[in-house]
Amino acid sequence: MAKKRILSGMRPTGPLHLGNLHGALANWKSMQDDYECFFFIADWHALTSDYEATAPIQGYIMDIFMDWLSVGISPDKCTLFVQSHIKEHAELFLLLSMITPLPWLERNPTYKEQIAELKNKDLSTFGFLGYPVLQAADIIIYKANGVPVGIDQAPHLELTREIARRFNHFYGDVFPIPDTVLTETSKILGIDRRKMSKSYNNAIFLSDSPEDIRKRVGEMITDPQRARRRDPGDPAVCNVFSFHQLYSDKETVERIEPECREAEIGCVECKRLMAENLIQVLEPISEKRFYYEAHPDTVRAIVEDGDQRAKAVARQTMEEVREAVKI
Ligand code: TRP
Ligand code: SF4
Repeated sequence: MAKKRILSGMRPTGPLHLGNLHGALANWKSMQDDYECFFFIADWHALTSDYEATAPIQGYIMDIFMDWLSVGISPDKCTLFVQSHIKEHAELFLLLSMITPLPWLERNPTYKEQIAELKNKDLSTFGFLGYPVLQAADIIIYKANGVPVGIDQAPHLELTREIARRFNHFYGDVFPIPDTVLTETSKILGIDRRKMSKSYNNAIFLSDSPEDIRKRVGEMITDPQRARRRDPGDPAVCNVFSFHQLYSDKETVERIEPECREAEIGCVECKRLMAENLIQVLEPISEKRFYYEAHPDTVRAIVEDGDQRAKAVARQTMEEVREAVKI
C-alpha cells in the first residue's frame, strides 16, 4: 500500500533550539520511514508579521535547513523545500481566499492573541488575517493526509479542514481532509523556566558552541525553593533535572536525585555535569552542522532537488484545481 503523506512547515524566524529538537524535529524524524514526508520553510508566512524587516529571512532559511540536516532529517527520505519557490501555493491561496468566509478568519484564536500580544507590530493587514488561508493552500496542494504540528497550530489545522471541505463541496472532491497529528511538547523549558522560545531569549540553540552552552546552563533557574547550598532541593520541579533526564546516563540521574534532596550536591556542580553531557550529546549534530556551514552549495542542491519534487506535485494538483473550478 502507498505510504500516507504528511507535510509540515516552519517559519524562518531563526536557528532552531533544543525545544524544537525534542518537539517538532524528533517527531518528524520518527515519521520519515513510515510516511512520505514533505517539510518546508514557510517564508511567505514570515512576511505576514515581519513584512518590514525582510533582510534576515534568507539567512534564517539556510540556518534551518542546516539544522534539519544536522539532526538527521534525511533528504533521501523527505522532500525539503521552500514555500516561495513553489508559486502554485500563491495561486491556490488566491482561489481559497474567494471561498473563505471572513468570520472564520476573524474568530481564529491565534489571530486575536497575536494582535493583542505583538503590540509593537501593525498586524491589521489583509495578509495577516489570511495567514490560515495560505497555510491551508500549503497543506492541501500536496494532498497531505496528516500534518504534524504543536497544539498552538490546532486552530489553523481546523480551518484548513473547513476550507478543504468547502472547496470540495463547491467544486467536487479534489482534496483529502488532512488529520492534525499533534506533536508532544518537549519536557524541557527555557533557562528562565518559561517555554523555550527564541523570542524570550531563553533558548539553547543547536548551533551554540560548548562555551555558549556552559554559560547558558550556568544561568538556568533551578528549584526556586533552594536558595542556599544547604537547602534541600526538589528535582521534580527543577528544569536542570529535566535536562539531566534527557542528556545524562541513568546512573548519574539516579545518583543526583537523592543527592539533591539531601543537599549533598550543589546546583553549580549539578549544572556543570549536565552541561558537559549536553555538549557531548550535541557533538555529532554540531559536527554535521560545521560540515554544512562549510558546504553551503550542498545545502542549496538539496533544496533545489526538493523544490523540483514539490513543484511536480503542486503543478499536478493545480491542473485538477483549475479543471474543477473551471477557470
Ligand atoms: N503556521 C506554522 C507555524 O507557525 C507554519 C506553517 C505554515 C505550517 N504552513 C504550514 C505548518 C503548513 C504546517 C503545515 O508553525
Ligand atoms: Fe536542580 Fe541539580 Fe540544583 Fe537539584 S542540585 S535543584 S536537580 S540543579
